[in-house]
Amino acid sequence: MPDLIRELEGLAEAARQSIGAAADERALEEIRVRYLGKKGEISLALRAMGELEPHERPRVGEVANRVRDEVDSLLERARERLESAKLEQELQGAPLDVTLPGRRLLPRGHRHPVTRATEEIVAIFSRLGYEVATGPEIELDWFNFEALNIPRDHPARDMQDTFYVDETTLGSPSAEGNVLLRTHTSPIQIRAMRRAGAPPVRVVAPGRVYRSDYDQTHSPMFHQVEGFCVGPDVTFADLKGTLAAFARAFFGPLTRTRFRPSYFPFVEPGAEADVSCSLCGGTGKREAARCGTCKGTGWLEVLGSGMVHPKVIENVGFDPRQVTGFAFGMGVERMAMLKYGIGDLRLFYENDLRFLEQF
Ligand code: PHE
Repeated sequence: MPDLIRELEGLAEAARQSIGAAADERALEEIRVRYLGKKGEISLALRAMGELEPHERPRVGEVANRVRDEVDSLLERARERLESAKLEQELQGAPLDVTLPGRRLLPRGHRHPVTRATEEIVAIFSRLGYEVATGPEIELDWFNFEALNIPRDHPARDMQDTFYVDETTLGSPSAEGNVLLRTHTSPIQIRAMRRAGAPPVRVVAPGRVYRSDYDQTHSPMFHQVEGFCVGPDVTFADLKGTLAAFARAFFGPLTRTRFRPSYFPFVEPGAEADVSCSLCGGTGKREAARCGTCKGTGWLEVLGSGMVHPKVIENVGFDPRQVTGFAFGMGVERMAMLKYGIGDLRLFYENDLRFLEQF
C-alpha cells in the first residue's frame, strides 16, 4: 500500500527540515517526541501497519524502520553539533580571570626570624658565587674536632662542650671516634672539600649546632652559617673584602668592618670580625645615652674567621703548598639580634606570637 510509504517519506522529509532548523536542545527534544515518542507520528504510522495486507507489510516495515533510524541518528548528530557549538562559544567568550585574589579565610603566616636571617645570609653568599652545602647534625668526632686540628686533649674542646653518645651504647665504635651533636658548622668544611675532591671550592653552609650552654645569649641549640673559599692564591685580602661586602649587604651600605686577631685551631692566622653597630651607626650613643647594643663601643663582634690551617688542607687531601683559603662562621641568632635589636636570644624559641608577629 503505497499510501503509507508516501506518508512515511513525507514524515522523514518534514523531520529532516525541522531538525536542521532546531536552535537548541529543547527544540530537538520536541521533535523527538513528535516523531519518535510513543504517540509520535512515526510510531502511529507503524501501528497502522496492522491494517495492511500481510504481503505488503515487509516493504512498508522496511521503509518505516529506515525512516525511524534516520530520524534517530539525525537527532543524535544535531545534539552533538549544538553541544560543540556551545563549548566553542564558551571558549571564545569572557576568559576566566585566574589573577583574582583568593579569599583570606585564615590569617597569613610568615617565616621565623631565624629562618629569615639564615635565608638572607645564604642568599648574599649565593650572589657572590658560593654553592650551598649541608652536613649531618649528628656528627663524628673526627669531622667535628680531629680533622679541624682540635686533638682529643686540646683546650679548645672545652669551649665547645657538647652532647656525646655513650660509646658503649654503639654496637661497634667507629674508627672516626665518638658520635656527637656537632658544636659548629665547621665539619662541613671537611665534608664539602672531600666531596669536591679538588680545589677550587667555594661553599656556604647553614645549619643547627649544639653546645651545653644556656643563658640570655646562649642556647643549647642554635644556628650557624659557615663559609669558605679554597683555591690557588686565595689571600687574607680576599677574606677581608668578602666579609666587608657581606656586612654591607646584611647590615646596610654604611656598615664598616674591622678585624681583631683571634685563635681558632683550624685557621692561621685567625680573626674575629666586628661591624660598626647597626643600631647607633657606630657612634656608641642612642638618644643621648650609651647604646646598649654595642655597650657604647660602636662595634659589634659578629663572626670568627681566618686562613684555613695547612693541616686542615692536608686532612682533606689537598696540597697546602699549592692551595690556600679562608673560612668564617657566624651565629644566625646573634646576627638576627643585632640586625633587629633583640635583647634576649631565648625569645626565638618561646613561640610567643607577640614577639614573632613583629617580623
Ligand atoms: N667554628 C667557629 C665557631 O663556632 C667559627 C669559625 C669558623 C672560626 C670558621 C673560624 C673559621 O666558633
